[in-house]
This record gives sequence, C-alpha cells and structure tokens, in this order.
Amino acid sequence: MTRRFSSDTLVIGSGLAGLSAAIEASRHGRVALLAKLYPTRCHSSAAQGGIAAALGNEEPDSQEWHFFDTVKGSDYLADQDCVEAMCGDAIKTVVGLERLGVPFSRTEAGKIAQRRFGGHTMEFGRAPVRRACYCADRTGLAIVSALYEQAERCGIEFFPEFHILDIVIEAGDCLGAIALEIKTGELCAFSAKSTIIASGGYGRLYATTSNAIQSTGDLPAILFKKGLPLKDMEFFQFHPTGLYGLGILITEGARGEGGVLVNGRGERFMETYAPHIKDLAPRDMVSRAIIRELRAGRGIGGKDYVHLDLRGIPQKTLGSRLPEIVSFCKIYMGVDPSAAPIPVVPTAHYAMGGIPTDTDGRVLKDERGGVVEGLFAAGECACVSVHGANRLGCNSLLDTVVFGRRAGGAAKGAQGKNIREIPPGAMGPAAETLSTLLERQGGEKTGAIKKDLQILMMDKCSVFRDEEGLSAAAGELEGLRQRSGNIRVMDKGKKFNTEVLEAIELGHMINLAEAVIRSALGRRESRGAHYREDYPERDDNNWLKHTFAFLREGKMTFGYSPVSITKLPPRKREY
Ligand code: FUM
Repeated sequence: MTRRFSSDTLVIGSGLAGLSAAIEASRHGRVALLAKLYPTRCHSSAAQGGIAAALGNEEPDSQEWHFFDTVKGSDYLADQDCVEAMCGDAIKTVVGLERLGVPFSRTEAGKIAQRRFGGHTMEFGRAPVRRACYCADRTGLAIVSALYEQAERCGIEFFPEFHILDIVIEAGDCLGAIALEIKTGELCAFSAKSTIIASGGYGRLYATTSNAIQSTGDLPAILFKKGLPLKDMEFFQFHPTGLYGLGILITEGARGEGGVLVNGRGERFMETYAPHIKDLAPRDMVSRAIIRELRAGRGIGGKDYVHLDLRGIPQKTLGSRLPEIVSFCKIYMGVDPSAAPIPVVPTAHYAMGGIPTDTDGRVLKDERGGVVEGLFAAGECACVSVHGANRLGCNSLLDTVVFGRRAGGAAKGAQGKNIREIPPGAMGPAAETLSTLLERQGGEKTGAIKKDLQILMMDKCSVFRDEEGLSAAAGELEGLRQRSGNIRVMDKGKKFNTEVLEAIELGHMINLAEAVIRSALGRRESRGAHYREDYPERDDNNWLKHTFAFLREGKMTFGYSPVSITKLPPRKREY
C-alpha cells in the first residue's frame, strides 16, 4: 500500500540550496524536505574554500568587480541580469549567514576574514583580491550545520533516506513526487502545491571526481526523461587540484593562501599560462595548463601529476586556515604539506549545466521561457545561469543560498491553490522500474557498467574534447545503455536495497552523459570549460547562446536561447 504525505511545499535535497529554500518557504506554509541521505551528509558539506561576497574586509572590493569577474570567468556565457541578482545579494547573504551563527574565520579586528580565490580581482582584473569568506577549509559544513539548526527551528519536516523515483506533472502542473523509503522499500507519494528540486550535481559521471557518491544527477535526469530540457550540459568544470589517484578536493584556498603549482622541472608553470594572476587564474585555464604540462612530459618524474607546493605558507596559517587539507594529505597520501609538495590532477568538480530556471527558480519547459507550474529548482542541479561556461570558486555556495532562498520565496505564488492528490496511476512507472529490476534473472551487475561509463567520460569528454572522441563516446555510450538494460540485481529484498537504487542511478547517469556528450558535439567552438581541440577559438558570432537539450521519443534534439548581456560585452579573456 502506498503511503501518502502532503505539504504546502516539498523540497528535494538537504544541501545549502534545499535548506535555504525550505527555511524561506516555511514562512508561508508547511514544508516537507526529502533527502537521499541523512540531511547533513549532503554534498554541500564537502565545500571547503569559501563563499564569495565583496565585503571589502581585508582590502578594497566592490559588487561591480564581483559582477565583472563572474561574467569574465564565465567566458561571457553567464546571463548578466542573473549575475547582477546574485552579486547584488552577496553581501546581505553572508551577513545574514553570520547572524544565523555561521562561525566564519576572523581578521585580527574581528571581522569576517577573506582570502584570494581563482579569478577574483580588484579594479576589473588589475590584481587578485580577497573576496572569499571562509570557515577555515570547512565552509560548507559550517553553513550546512547552521542552516540545518534553523530548519529544525522552523518546523520543517525532514524525510531522510528517501530516494526520489519520479516527479509527477499533469497538464503542465507539478503535483509532487514519488519516493522510495530506503529503510522499508515502500513507495510513498508526496503531494505539494510547490515542489523545489535542490538535489545537487552529477560529478559521478567521471572516474576522477571531487563529488560525493550520491552525486548522480537523479532529478535532472528524471525531468529530462519526461521531455523537459537540460541547459548548457557541455560545460562541466574540472577543479585543478584533486588529490592524485583519488580526486579528493584540495581547496583553491590553498593557492589563495600562497600555494603554487609546480611541474616536473620545478617550474611555476602558471607564470606562462596566466602571467598576470598565475596560480589564481580561473579553473578552466589552470586545468588545461596542468594537462598541457602532463602531455608535454613535464609531470613529476615524467608521471601524470603535478605538485601543489604549500611549503611557503607559514605553519600557523596551514593549521588555522587549511587544517582539513593538511589532514587529508597525511591520511590519504602520507604527505605532510608543510614538509613536501602534494601530488595533484584536475578532478571533475561542478556541473555548470542543469535544469533551466529563471531567477526565481521556476523551471523552464523550453528555450522560450515557458515554465512548469509549481516546479522550482536551485543549486547545482539548476542552471540559472550565473556561471555560464566556467564557474568561479565560491560562487557556488553563494548561488545555492541566494537562489535557494529566492525559489523558496517564489513558491509562495502557488500557495493559493489546493493540494492535488497524486493519482494512484502515477505510481505505475516507478513500481514497474523496481519490479523489472528485481525480477530479472541473469545479466550483468551495475558496478562494471558504471565504471566503464566513468572512464569513457574521463577519456573522451573531460578537459579537452574533439569531434572524433565525442562521436566515439556517443557510440560507446549506446553499448553501455544496452548493457544497462540487462542489469542483474542480486539483492531481491525490499529493505535498504541500495543495489537496486544504484542500478536506477546508472540509468540516470547514462542519460545525463548522453546530454553532455551530444551538447559538446554540437558546440563547435571553445568556451570556458568546454575546450574543443578541433575548434580552439571562442566563436561569439555563432555560439554566444545557451544550449537546450531535449529527450523526446528516445531522440535527443536541441534548441538555443540568447545570452542576456546587460553591461559587459564579450571581450578577449586574458589573465
Ligand atoms: O576550491 C574550493 O574550495 C572549491 C570551491 C568551490 O568550488 O566553490
């Protein structure tokens, strides 16, 4: 028997976007929040380096410079009206978080401390600026903890360890979601006037990633399969410094505090690629520089990694501002960063693309701006778009809180209507997916197919791409899709059947991978994180536009929409 729940607002995801949305929505009604894991285990908790706001606590800074850096960092693909909305809210947002009890690191004078980060500059690119507000190197966890406390105080009803299987949309109106309670294996229907998706990213498409195991993009994939678009999927960010062999993030804050990248010849190679701001260039440029050094045989000892050298940072600073990094390096690599350099490689970190929304989180149903009633999205799963082709560090935490809150506020618009019950027939597809997987005999296990997918994406659709590799990837993906249609699940039980959920996640990942590959194939230029070796230049005449991918009747089609340019016409991007 299906269990039924109802609330005014349903929030999916307990990261910073979900918590911010839920707290805001609780001002005007009852809120239910569903999370795949225990709420504070969301991937936002892994965010290290900081949240961007031009407070000017350490040196002069301004909202205009923040806007300029974000648009330039995005390689001019960000919608400038949306960037204005985000940067315009940044100071208020960080001060608001401080008042809610976020324990930011402090200056000597007791103000919120700030440090340098990639692409953050003063006076429109003249020199690096301290704009990242941080809690040592556990900024995400500190903010999640404070917002989780607030959410409890606001009476939000949490449903931890519920796995979403479907979003119910009838006649252009979202009615809620169908979820599996992991503990019991029971299907549950959650009806709501407004549904806000804040389910995070999909870095697990890649073999080397900083993303948590849960980042499989379930919700973008569910909407995509229902015929809704995904926007700018070709833009996937690689963070330059993941621990070699593991992908675990080493915060850009380490370079902000004075760390430098060094190749096998002991050279600070970023001096060549970004003579002005060097190691603090944006991530797309630094990641490409590292791969170029490796391709030229200048890895450490001729191997496939470079060094991040933190030995110039005083011990006291390492201990107070980068304690987690020091600990990760010791535990996972046996390296003490105060005594030896850290082996690093680029690691898949952040999806710029996702569910298209307006600045109030309303989910767009097409490239012309039509919306799905009662459906919102915010955070990494969404594409507003404020990051364009390449996100600057610390703008993601800002994005989650600013646009999560806006979505929670906008959800109020749907509160005049009645909650519509999810019809029993709507459970059918989810129930069928489960029974097909559980009843199938023979076939292959999920893990091997997932691993092949992750290697495929890494090899053919990562920092560098070209037509040949992408076309081959599209072909090989079909093979993986076929194999996934014959998955065998050994655990036939209902309770905590994570094996069946992993198989469902893989189906989502394959659809998202196809959207990434085919969107990348379509865009015949290089911009931000999308670098086509066969089209190495940015082409504003033909490609200053957003990609909308649709999956309709099993085929992928594309639409395009213009970039909103309010203040800053595209220029050559030099650092
Ligand atoms: O390097 C970092 O700490 C990552 C920050 C971000 O992605 O915003």
